[in-house]
Amino acid sequence: MTTFEKYPPLRIALHWLTVLLLVAVYASMELKGIFPKGSDAREVLKTWHFMLGLSVLLLVLLRLLARWMQPGPPQLPGPAWQAWLAKATHLALYLFMLGMPLAGWLVLSTAGKPVPFFGLELPALMGLNKTLSGQIKDLHETVATIGYFLIGLHALAALFHHYILKDNTLRRMWR
Ligand code: HEM
Ligand code: HEM
Repeated sequence: MTTFEKYPPLRIALHWLTVLLLVAVYASMELKGIFPKGSDAREVLKTWHFMLGLSVLLLVLLRLLARWMQPGPPQLPGPAWQAWLAKATHLALYLFMLGMPLAGWLVLSTAGKPVPFFGLELPALMGLNKTLSGQIKDLHETVATIGYFLIGLHALAALFHHYILKDNTLRRMWR
């Protein structure tokens, strides 16, 4: 396998950094449930959820820039439906990484709550609108559940390529 068959190192680093960040973003929300409402620990977990979630937005913008500047290797040979499904999943993952943080930012903005980002306070994206805030929060939570399936499908496909088809799909996204 030559170097040209791999993703560029920057894109590999950004891919796996996003995976780690998303684990923490999901974990912070799943774990908050074990602490009572209004407790400090619960509030700290929520703040980390917001800040790490916003970092996903920053990272995906970098990823899009990296993708534009450093094209990836060509699709490996295989049936057309597989190539199509991979493309569609990657597009859905990009929309997820862009849409989820923006929706979260909108939930806080429309609820009139501060939007913390590592010592900074980001501006509200919209004015106060509690009804809209509740609706976007519901959407954010539904898409978060869909995200589990989408990421699961994507990761399973990578493992299927690696262990069953025994091709280079996973290796070329590894250092
Ligand atoms: C990729 C990024 C993100 C993912 C995957 C994500 C995922 C989640 C999940 C799994 C929940 C819990 C859903 C439930 O209880 O059923 C949640 C709730 C929430 N998220 Fe996010 N989130 C992201 C980014 C953000 C950002 C950037 C903000 C705000 C700046 C935010 C604000 C919220 C709020 C306000 C809630 C409701 C919290 C509550 O129930 O008190 N999220 N999110
Ligand atoms: C353990 C989990 C994961 C594994 C094993 C994995 C594996 C891979 C592999 C092998 C590729 C290369 C596919 C190809 O060349 O056709 C890839 C690409 C990609 N992955 Fe993942 N991935 C995981 C999690 C994620 C997550 C959480 C996201 C984002 C939410 C993501 C987003 C992407 C995107 C957008 C691509 C297309 C290439 C790019 O533009 O960077 N992956 N992944």
